[in-house]
Amino acid sequence: MEELQKLAKIAFASEFSFYLKAHQFHWNVEGEDFLQYHDLFGKIYEEVYDSIDDFAEKIRALGTYMPGSYTRFSMLSKIEDEDQVLPKDAMLKELYMDNEKMAIILKKLFDLSEQEHQHGFSDFVAGRMDAHAKHGWMLRASMKR
Ligand SMILES: [Fe+2]
Repeated sequence: MEELQKLAKIAFASEFSFYLKAHQFHWNVEGEDFLQYHDLFGKIYEEVYDSIDDFAEKIRALGTYMPGSYTRFSMLSKIEDEDQVLPKDAMLKELYMDNEKMAIILKKLFDLSEQEHQHGFSDFVAGRMDAHAKHGWMLRASMKR
């Protein structure tokens, strides 16, 4: 159970970092098709942000406290910070790669949750896997030349 709590917090901090990056890209993207990418990053950050509170409360229900500071998030997160303003194509590629990372972390979390017979929590994690599969599709389709 302790291992599940630990991995859940890593997945949560990674999800929060992923959210923040998608929001940063939504703010800073530029180009002649600005609106298209502003909206794409907007859709992604909104979906992830809407899941954050539920994610935290479900981890609390596993019996542990939640990290809620940038210091703790940066210690736990597997998604690296982006403090530069990237060109549009680099934004797409980076968020796509991060999305792949999220898929791996969530899969590990799902398997561990099932091992611990936390089926309700697994169900929530499966929903996050589904959401990231959709983000992956949208990012991949947007990168196609
Ligand atoms: Fe906005």
